[in-house]
Amino acid sequence: VTKEELFALGWGEIVLATKQRKHPFHTATYSTLGADGPDSRVVTLRYAKDWVVGFHADVRSPKAQQSISDSRVCWLFYSSPHKLQVRGYGRTVVHHLDDVAREAWEASKLLSRRCYLAPLAPSSVTSLATNNIPEFLADREPVEEEAVPGFENFSVVRTHLTSLEVLKLEFGGQWRARFGQDGVSEWLAP
Ligand SMILES: Cc1cc2nc3c(=O)[nH]c(=O)nc-3n(C[C@H](O)[C@H](O)[C@H](O)COP(=O)(O)O)c2cc1C
Repeated sequence: VTKEELFALGWGEIVLATKQRKHPFHTATYSTLGADGPDSRVVTLRYAKDWVVGFHADVRSPKAQQSISDSRVCWLFYSSPHKLQVRGYGRTVVHHLDDVAREAWEASKLLSRRCYLAPLAPSSVTSLATNNIPEFLADREPVEEEAVPGFENFSVVRTHLTSLEVLKLEFGGQWRARFGQDGVSEWLAP
């Protein structure tokens, strides 16, 4: 295997996963630094282009707020069938009420927009179990106009990757390398 092949494999599967909902990389682990230390959660990969990967989140959520306070983040992609792990390191930009957010909002489904009409900020402590969906939308998606107020809560979280580390397991051995956005790459002992 060559480093170029390893990079093409890792990044290639990430790009594929933005379009293939069943791809193991379609959901990834996104880690931030919070006030009490590292924090991780699963997110849905929505964007992968030119060393930038992204997802959508409520701007009020800890993941968005932590990304704003400290932009250093780590992405983890894992596929059991591909025997492949990819780690991405970089700096996050949270797009809120800008052109990037507007474009993604307009491309999103009405049912997805419903999430952003949540009356409570995500992660608020509640006395009773709640799905945090406005009552009048409990069993349907909003019409375009009803979804409008959700835009204020909507954000597009994008990480500008500085490095990508690919680990591929094979019967014959394991291959691991790190690739820098600056074009520098190096093999790593697996
Ligand atoms: C399969 C799956 C996909 C998810 N995708 C997203 C997503 O794209 N954006 C998001 O904000 N939360 C997503 N979540 C929810 C987060 O994992 C998390 O539990 C929640 O948003 C609270 O995160 P926070 O308190 O760290 O902000 C997803 C959860 C699962 C299980």
